[in-house]
Amino acid sequence: MLSDEGFIPLNPTTYSNEEMLQRSRALFEQMDKRRSVREYSNQTFPIEILENIIKTASTAPSGAHKQPWTFCIVSSDEIKSKIREAAEEEELENYTRRMSDSWLEDLKPFGTDHIKPFIEVAPYIVVVMKHSYEFGEENEKLQNYYVNESVGIAVGFFLSAVHNAGLFALTHTPSPMRFLKKILNRPENETPYLLIPVGLPADNVQVPNIKRKGLKDIIERY
Ligand SMILES: Cc1cc2nc3c(=O)[nH]c(=O)nc-3n(C[C@H](O)[C@H](O)[C@H](O)COP(=O)(O)O)c2cc1C
Repeated sequence: MLSDEGFIPLNPTTYSNEEMLQRSRALFEQMDKRRSVREYSNQTFPIEILENIIKTASTAPSGAHKQPWTFCIVSSDEIKSKIREAAEEEELENYTRRMSDSWLEDLKPFGTDHIKPFIEVAPYIVVVMKHSYEFGEENEKLQNYYVNESVGIAVGFFLSAVHNAGLFALTHTPSPMRFLKKILNRPENETPYLLIPVGLPADNVQVPNIKRKGLKDIIERY
């Protein structure tokens, strides 16, 4: 929504170069500790924390400010079980038939298979839905713009906020994910984008020993 005033002052917070250096370094050092977690404790946490995380995600920019996303929070054991069953069915097909040999080879370092206990164990499953379009007041279709980019950026904010809160997540894609739309009874303009368990790690969890690319591999200077 554009505010009633049309335009309002930005009132920016600015910093000295030294402060910017420190702040940018501190955030990198914090974010560099983020890891995807595939084994969770069943310990729950206050829903308000997750709501704050979703509020943070919703500060993301989006094409024409359409905010084409819904974050479905699942804490019901019954719905989690349905989701796990359907996800494992798709993942069994993926691991045994749909994925290419090179894809399976690329997944070996992660030790993953079609069994997904975390869907039932993590206290919350957040299913992110993207809105391909919206419905107007007379049920007419209204266009959204750059939906994938917008929702991807919002999920980036979401994952950063999860990490900042001291929680853990996994971006899970048991594709095709149509079953999520059905189980959660979502409207026709929504398409499942990611399934994200959020919680605390199980005791003594290990994570794959992977390395991130260095600056020289991801920057080109002109
Ligand atoms: C779009 C996307 C889809 C992913 N899908 C899965 C998935 O279905 N299952 C899984 O175990 N990990 C999945 N991952 C997690 C990646 O394997 C993980 O982010 C990567 O190995 C880097 O590890 P890190 O997140 O700990 O840095 C996915 C990540 C992204 C960004």
